Amino acid sequence: MAIRLRPVGEEDLAMLRRFKTEPGLIGLDWAGFRDPGTVDRRFAADSYLGEDDGGLIVEVETGPVAAGFVSYRWGQFGAAGRHVEIGIVLLPEWRGQGIGWRAQAMFCEYLFRHTPVHRIQAGTHPENIAEQKALEKAGFQFEGVIRGCEFRDGGWRDGYLYSRLRS
Ligand SMILES: CC(C)(COP(=O)(O)OP(=O)(O)OC[C@H]1O[C@@H](n2cnc3c(N)ncnc32)[C@H](O)[C@@H]1OP(=O)(O)O)[C@@H](O)C(=O)NCCC(=O)NCCS
Repeated sequence: MAIRLRPVGEEDLAMLRRFKTEPGLIGLDWAGFRDPGTVDRRFAADSYLGEDDGGLIVEVETGPVAAGFVSYRWGQFGAAGRHVEIGIVLLPEWRGQGIGWRAQAMFCEYLFRHTPVHRIQAGTHPENIAEQKALEKAGFQFEGVIRGCEFRDGGWRDGYLYSRLRS
């Protein structure tokens, strides 16, 4: 199944609003209801292509149909040189068909091509086996456990950190 990444369009806003308001649709990252109005405001502001964060639609070319969304956020650990953290969510009907790992690999190629980024990182949950496998297939390496890093589903939880380097 051929996929591509493309910018968010008006036709995608309904899906992005659903991610904010349908419990569990985004998977384990669900953290309660979020204002769906932020979607339209963000689209009006920069079409989700900001300098510091944003995202692209994962599109299945036959249709074509939007299958999900990949996100990026620039961050910095030390004195100089920023890294990117990526994230992904696919609609349930498009999961488990090889789209997730390919979309994340494709997104890395895009970022390495169009930005000077050296380090791309991604966090996931200890119980998210699909994302752990998808990241490894996309060329990421497991770096370690980030202890007690997020409040989710009633408690503080550990996270898993992965990265892929330009080199
Ligand atoms: C996580 C997610 C992006 C993975 O994408 P996907 O398209 O479903 O996964 P893929 O089809 O590319 O599969 C990648 C690997 O994971 C395995 N896998 C897929 N779904 C799985 C599941 N539910 N349980 C265990 N393994 C699974 C696949 O078999 C494949 O491994 P293999 O080649 O060794 O067989 C997608 O399931 C999703 O959007 N989930 C909800 C949101 C989410 O969890 N996002 C990440 C938050 S950190």
